[in-house]
Amino acid sequence: MDFEGRVAIVTGGSRGIGASTASILAERGARVVVADVRAEEGAAIVAAIGPQASFFPLDVTNEQQWDDLFEHAATHFGPVRILVNNAAISRRTPIVTCTRDQYEEVVAINQVGVFLGIRAAARAMADTGGAIVNVSSAAGLRGMPDLVAYSAAKWAVRGMTKVAALELAPNAVTVNCVLPGGIDTPMTNESSFLPADREAMLTAMTPLGRQGRPDEVAEMIVFLASDGAQYCTGGDYVVDGGRTSGTPARPR
Ligand SMILES: NC(=O)c1ccc[n+]([C@@H]2O[C@H](COP(=O)([O-])OP(=O)(O)OC[C@H]3O[C@@H](n4cnc5c(N)ncnc54)[C@H](O)[C@@H]3O)[C@@H](O)[C@H]2O)c1
Repeated sequence: MDFEGRVAIVTGGSRGIGASTASILAERGARVVVADVRAEEGAAIVAAIGPQASFFPLDVTNEQQWDDLFEHAATHFGPVRILVNNAAISRRTPIVTCTRDQYEEVVAINQVGVFLGIRAAARAMADTGGAIVNVSSAAGLRGMPDLVAYSAAKWAVRGMTKVAALELAPNAVTVNCVLPGGIDTPMTNESSFLPADREAMLTAMTPLGRQGRPDEVAEMIVFLASDGAQYCTGGDYVVDGGRTSGTPARPR
């Protein structure tokens, strides 16, 4: 996969799956803007990548910042051809105690943020073509307890992906969705997403018997952003060690 001369934006690129995606794109020749609310971690990633990367402070819920981001990318590196809508937050709350504010915070970032990104990219790529990769979740394929807003937003990302794929196909812009599950990142580790006996639980839940690494998701994102995927649009691509295929346990 050769990204020489391509300009990419990766939201939520300061750590986890986004940081891995930005690094792999740059290794393969792209010029990458890491866009995130975490400036310190973002600056460290950009320093590690080198001069073909740049950090831009972006809160994905802020419309003006999206315009400023695309302008920054265009003046710094050139017209943007790849957008990875990866930024998200996770909050665990049962429905009965979930406040409207908690629900709306997650939807604003994980759903509205993706809409604003798709819209900005659709405008920027109208004449050049390009690739948009949205990061949903295994929670966008099935229900998960205590993740009502997160699941709703991740299902919405899949829906938006299909609408955008239809609308942007005439402009040679592909739009696809990656659905990770059980990846070892700060999000999973910080949010008490999993209980203390996590290893045993993960092995039981995951046919491949382990957590995934950020680069294993990043490779799928990078493929969908490449010319190798130019006949793929509107698709859901699961990277979850087989979790959404069913439970590996056999009835005794
Ligand atoms: N880790 C997993 O197991 C898993 C599973 C399914 C889906 N995902 C999805 O993968 C993507 C990456 O997750 P991760 O595990 O690397 O998480 P992470 O928390 O490690 O990274 C997410 C990044 O998004 C940034 N971010 C959060 N709110 C933002 C905002 N308002 N504006 C801009 N940036 C913001 C954070 O600062 C952070 O750098 C997310 O969309 C997540 O929902 C992860």
